[in-house]
Amino acid sequence: MEAWITQLAPYDPAELYEYPEGKIVKTIKANWKIVAENFMDGYHLAHLHSGTLAMYDHSKIEYGFVGSHFVFWEPCAPHYLENIEQNTPFRLIDPSPPERLGAYVPMLFPGIGLSESESSWSTFHIKPVVPDSSIVEMRSKFSAKDYSAFKKQEKRSARFWNSHIVAKFEGDSPTDPMASDDFMEEDVYACEQQ
Ligand SMILES: [Fe+2]
Repeated sequence: MEAWITQLAPYDPAELYEYPEGKIVKTIKANWKIVAENFMDGYHLAHLHSGTLAMYDHSKIEYGFVGSHFVFWEPCAPHYLENIEQNTPFRLIDPSPPERLGAYVPMLFPGIGLSESESSWSTFHIKPVVPDSSIVEMRSKFSAKDYSAFKKQEKRSARFWNSHIVAKFEGDSPTDPMASDDFMEEDVYACEQQ
């Protein structure tokens, strides 16, 4: 890992705002360790999420253990970065120079992941239930305090998302997770298949 890459995003999540309506709770029919390994693994991003996470440059991923914890980082993709003020789905949080904007993704041992992007900060809490079932609770925080500013940026960036972020395969999106255009659905599917 390059020396300048910090293990956590260079901003303070205590200064961000949580939208309770953004909380996601999912049951995954897989052992919790499969879910944790999926979260930590950066190699699958370029394959499983080639359409849904196209805003990051997976070829530049940096990763490594930090004691019992594991972290990876990847920068924004050039086509996303070149007009990032417009393309970002939510107002930017990170004041870093452009080459350091990206996703910081630590897994705090054993089962609390953080997804710290240039525009959102999320916790990914994996709860074991029984050997072949886990619950994941995901909560997110953003820099815009009021919801209308949040929605305004979402609208402003729609052209980028509609033209660059696509499902992995064509299909019936309500029933086929690989046609869902949602990277979490892709991950749930991969974990359950394993
Ligand atoms: Fe994934």
